[in-house]
Amino acid sequence: MKRLTVPAIQRRKFEGKTQEPLVMLTAYTARQAQLLDPHCDMLLVGDSLGQVIYGLPSTLAVTLDMMIAHGAAVVRGSYHSVVLVDMPFGSYESSPQQAFASASRIMAETGCAAVKLEGGEAMADTISFLSQRGIPVMAHIGLTPQAVNALGGYGARGKSQQEHAKIMADARAVAQAGAFAMVLEGVMEELAVAITDSVDVPVIGIGASAHCDGQVLVTEDMLGMFDRVPRFVKRYENIAETIDGAAARYAAEVRTRGFPTDDQVYRPKI
Ligand code: KIV
Ligand code: NA
Repeated sequence: MKRLTVPAIQRRKFEGKTQEPLVMLTAYTARQAQLLDPHCDMLLVGDSLGQVIYGLPSTLAVTLDMMIAHGAAVVRGSYHSVVLVDMPFGSYESSPQQAFASASRIMAETGCAAVKLEGGEAMADTISFLSQRGIPVMAHIGLTPQAVNALGGYGARGKSQQEHAKIMADARAVAQAGAFAMVLEGVMEELAVAITDSVDVPVIGIGASAHCDGQVLVTEDMLGMFDRVPRFVKRYENIAETIDGAAARYAAEVRTRGFPTDDQVYRPKI
């Protein structure tokens, strides 16, 4: 099976009335990518790895080198999905030139197909600069976690008329600037519906609406790795319990010399 392409993803918005929503999950490691890849259209190496993998309090301290190391692993572990890598905080905001320098490193050193960056109208020039120079960009608007300090938290966006209008303008601006798709995170549902219907590129929702052109979740969130998750997460498994149980059984067996048994040790053949 050939790897999906960015244009193929973009076209999905218009593939008839039966248009099937795009499936996207985060991946940070090669083995995780291998397991998720057959089920997904896109794998996102999200800067959420700051919290999920590195135990950081937010995504702000995530570096380009971290994104590149995990991005390369996910590309190596997948062959079907489009792999997108998040541009970390501080690597793209100051100018289109700075963004190009960072994005071109990400593309060259990981082999990914596209980058994602946070921001709407303010990032429109940068999105058009990158996309005209061979770097497909997915925008990320609504609740943008890199702006947590400016937004004052991770609460839903688009509640006031003013915020609604601002996020709608962001969506139009990034689509106009040439973003091939956008993530729309943590917004009032009616705004998500309105945006999906008013832009001509796929809108991938997270805490948005079933009406969006696709959905994304953080894989560890949907696997039930964490006790506390946002309202928009559905837990499809309870992997925390599975890991806790396995570690408890292993620890008990080690302490009682129940592990290893004859099956797990090397002896000369007779
Ligand atoms: O970093 C991330 O995981 C993301 C998704 C939640 C969209 O940006
Ligand atoms: Na992100």
